[in-house]
Amino acid sequence: MAAWSRALTREGVKVGLVPTMGALHAGHQALIRAARLQCDAVVVSIFVNPTQFGPREDFSRYPRRLSRDQALCRTEGVDIVFAPDRTAMYPEGFQTVVSVPGIARCWEGAARPMHFQGVATIVTKLLCLTQPDAAFFGQKDYQQAALIRRMVADLNIGCAIMVLPTVREEDGLALSSRNAYLSPTERKAAPILFQSLTAGAEGIYKGSRVSKDIVRVMTDVIAREPKVRVEYLAVCHPTTLESLTTIRNDCVLLGAVRVGAIRLIDNLPVTAKPVGSRRRSGG
Ligand code: PAJ
Repeated sequence: MAAWSRALTREGVKVGLVPTMGALHAGHQALIRAARLQCDAVVVSIFVNPTQFGPREDFSRYPRRLSRDQALCRTEGVDIVFAPDRTAMYPEGFQTVVSVPGIARCWEGAARPMHFQGVATIVTKLLCLTQPDAAFFGQKDYQQAALIRRMVADLNIGCAIMVLPTVREEDGLALSSRNAYLSPTERKAAPILFQSLTAGAEGIYKGSRVSKDIVRVMTDVIAREPKVRVEYLAVCHPTTLESLTTIRNDCVLLGAVRVGAIRLIDNLPVTAKPVGSRRRSGG
């Protein structure tokens, strides 16, 4: 992988990387298409990274569909599918880690303590191996994308980080490999998370600027679905992800719920216009 990307870079070929854990769906496909549009050669990595799963999480049952994924990559015109095995990525003696403690402390990081260290380390390794001009991530994992932006800036990794909008089912549920775990009744209940975020965003658009009120609106929506339990619902700063008390400018609504035993996350970035502001004519 490293030799191939070095050769391409020497020839001036613009390389795009789409890091994934496989079980590819339309969300991944959108990243691949964006990479194809913006780059000359596209690498899709497929690696279910053990270090980002907690001891009681779903590493062993995470869906693995390599031949199906390879076929999808072929039809999407991907140049290389990089699917290393565990020992290639973590050989005996491996010990270095990358951590981004500020962004990793809150929300998903609080619920999944070693998760972001695992993500930061594997993404750094993938960036070193593939030397891309640009790497493509989904807004679906908002905190992950924020952490990777921070890490790439902090470590002077000369790679553009592109973050693409969340691809959703018709009823609003964000596509995720983990949706396959939902039973039919859980699947019916799951879109309530996005409905809750949407209700929060509407509150802000209507002029509410107190985060506590927005969180209450979002919580009330979730309460309509007895099968769904809130883990967190928050109004946050769009880059630091710190919880906001008052909404002044842009923010992001973050949410995590449990539907039965399945944990789902989603988010909605919101641009809050100053209350009472009017568009200037000709502006
Ligand atoms: P994975 O969950 O396979 O996701 C790979 C990429 O697809 C991530 O950037 C994720 O945000 C994006 N993605 C997932 N669902 C999406 C959706 N509905 N719409 C748009 N993009 C979506 O995220 C990971 O893998 C791993 O943590 C990884 C970065 C590969 C490191 O192991």
